[in-house]
Amino acid sequence: MAAVVDLRSDTVTRPTAAMRQAMAEAEVGDDVYGEDPTVRRLEERIAELLGTEAALFVPTGTMANQIALRSLTRPGDEVIIGVGAHCWRYESGALAALAGVQTQMIGSDGTFTAADVRAAHRHADPYSAPTTVVAVENTHNVAGGIVWDREALAAVTAAAHQLGMKTHLDGARIWNAAIATGASEKELAAGFDTISVCLSKGLGAPVGSVVAASKAVIKDCHRARKMYGGGMRQSGILAAGGLYALDHHRTRLVEDHANAKAFAEALSGKARIEIDLSRVQTNIVMVDVERGAAAVIEAAKAKGVLLGAASPTRIRAVTHLDVDHASVLRAAAVIAEVA
Ligand SMILES: Cc1ncc(COP(=O)(O)O)c(C=O)c1O
Repeated sequence: MAAVVDLRSDTVTRPTAAMRQAMAEAEVGDDVYGEDPTVRRLEERIAELLGTEAALFVPTGTMANQIALRSLTRPGDEVIIGVGAHCWRYESGALAALAGVQTQMIGSDGTFTAADVRAAHRHADPYSAPTTVVAVENTHNVAGGIVWDREALAAVTAAAHQLGMKTHLDGARIWNAAIATGASEKELAAGFDTISVCLSKGLGAPVGSVVAASKAVIKDCHRARKMYGGGMRQSGILAAGGLYALDHHRTRLVEDHANAKAFAEALSGKARIEIDLSRVQTNIVMVDVERGAAAVIEAAKAKGVLLGAASPTRIRAVTHLDVDHASVLRAAAVIAEVA
């Protein structure tokens, strides 16, 4: 049987031989003592890429979002998010449990407008949780890897600041958004007080995320990282994988986007399958299947194609470094057959 095509997520990639070598050779020190030169290099590199004063290396995207949002809020505050935001849906209730904040979801497809923000905003009064932060996800995962319109993004961050709120960008896949829009990461990060980015998704590093912000906010995040158990020791080994990924795997994301498009086009118009090609903008493809997601996923697995479920009737396929054009076309043929 041909090799398994794993389209469950862009997190399933394995580090390449060259990345492993860069990791093995990394210069390291104890990062809790602030003595790891490779971690410092990665933090400086990300701060420079995103146009912030400082940055902090953390183990996961979840921790990056959580310590950033914690640093911008006080317990009892409310954070405005788009429908299905990762920091709400897939971070185990951490915003409520650890930061003590509640969320208000606005918009309809993961994105929203400045008018939505104005309508949702509340000042503190004896009865209301003050809305103090707007959090944006770009690209938006559960909405299917869609990219924010840059004008809408600028209007949202401007409206938030006018209302005295802070702004957070969950940029786990900011690299994909940059490739899809032609804007630089710095341009996409402009207007945000905190930004989280992941090295372990499309970029193919095994571990690692980074929070970028002002020096004062990063000082707060540094303390929260230790509090949340994310102070690491010779983590330059991991940071070296991230640096390698930034140098070698960023521009190739264009291939993942082309493969996602080819996969979606191969499935479009097939019986008992519904796909909105206009929403295939980066490396994530949502496919509605009449037969039901669980049955299709099971049948595809038996034929060597691994997929995720986005809902009882929707499957999710994500392209990445470890799948090529031929494999995504084979996966599409299998799905068309079993659907
Ligand atoms: C948009 C987004 N933010 C944050 C995360 C969290 O990253 P991690 O799995 O490293 O905690 C993910 C993970 O898939 C994600 O898709």
